[in-house]
Amino acid sequence: MTPSPRTSPIASAFVLGSTSEVAKCLCRELARRGCQRFHLVARDAEANKRFAAELRESFGAGVSLAQTDLIADANLPAKDQFPVGDFDLYLITAGSLGDGERARGDGGEALRITAANYSGLLPWLTAVATPERLARRGRLWVFSSVAADRGRPSNYHYGAAKAALTTFCEGLLLRCHGKPFAVRILKAGFMATPMTEGKAPAALCASPASLARDLLRHPDRRGIEYLPWWWAPLMALIRRLPPSLASRL
Ligand SMILES: NC(=O)c1ccc[n+]([C@@H]2O[C@H](COP(=O)([O-])OP(=O)(O)OC[C@H]3O[C@@H](n4cnc5c(N)ncnc54)[C@H](OP(=O)(O)O)[C@@H]3O)[C@@H](O)[C@H]2O)c1
Repeated sequence: MTPSPRTSPIASAFVLGSTSEVAKCLCRELARRGCQRFHLVARDAEANKRFAAELRESFGAGVSLAQTDLIADANLPAKDQFPVGDFDLYLITAGSLGDGERARGDGGEALRITAANYSGLLPWLTAVATPERLARRGRLWVFSSVAADRGRPSNYHYGAAKAALTTFCEGLLLRCHGKPFAVRILKAGFMATPMTEGKAPAALCASPASLARDLLRHPDRRGIEYLPWWWAPLMALIRRLPPSLASRL
């Protein structure tokens, strides 16, 4: 994780997965800090419209909208989905736990989990990471997961897809070494969002609003980081657990 020598304001943001709880917290925080232009892409068009109205009414922001289903759409994003020109921040928060138990015996569910967390994102990441854009100043923040660090008996399809996403984005990070474009890979632990409702111990769930504020304290950071930071030593320990203990995770 390397801080950039100087910070620059984030005045425009492209968000894929804008109906995600953590994306909404980040957008509100960005708008509070002066971000005036958003392009919001989500699967649930109605929820996306409601959030766009909130950003317009509460902050006077300019918002454009697009819809996609990462599982159904395998094409490069269309022009109205991916506007021409640069955004100061490309934020990728789309992702889905899926049904890990079902995926053990249903290859279709395994593919859906892979598409929602990795393969469906590839056309979008490819559209962001053009050689021209990577040579200019900009930021790409991608939400991965601590689940990428070690296969777990309960949700290894999700973990494997996030591991592929992390490796892909690490490639982009290294391609941008020494260039002004900053890639930030966020390995999140449990967050208190609809994704983990009833599935994670409340004491371990971070507030998405406080994570958003923390992330924006270092807007030009690049590299791989854990959210919150204490997942780094915890995952170092979990990676070293013998199978007899890891199988109980
Ligand atoms: N919550 C956690 O504990 C946790 C932990 C580690 C990592 N993460 C990762 O952090 C990111 C944000 O998580 P969150 O908790 O804020 O999630 P969330 O509130 O459940 O939101 C998930 C987002 O992904 C979108 N999405 C899901 N499947 C999609 C599909 N097939 N096509 C298009 N969009 C799809 C949803 O869109 P619609 O609402 O429009 O359907 C929504 O915008 C995700 O990548 C997640 O994997 C979360």
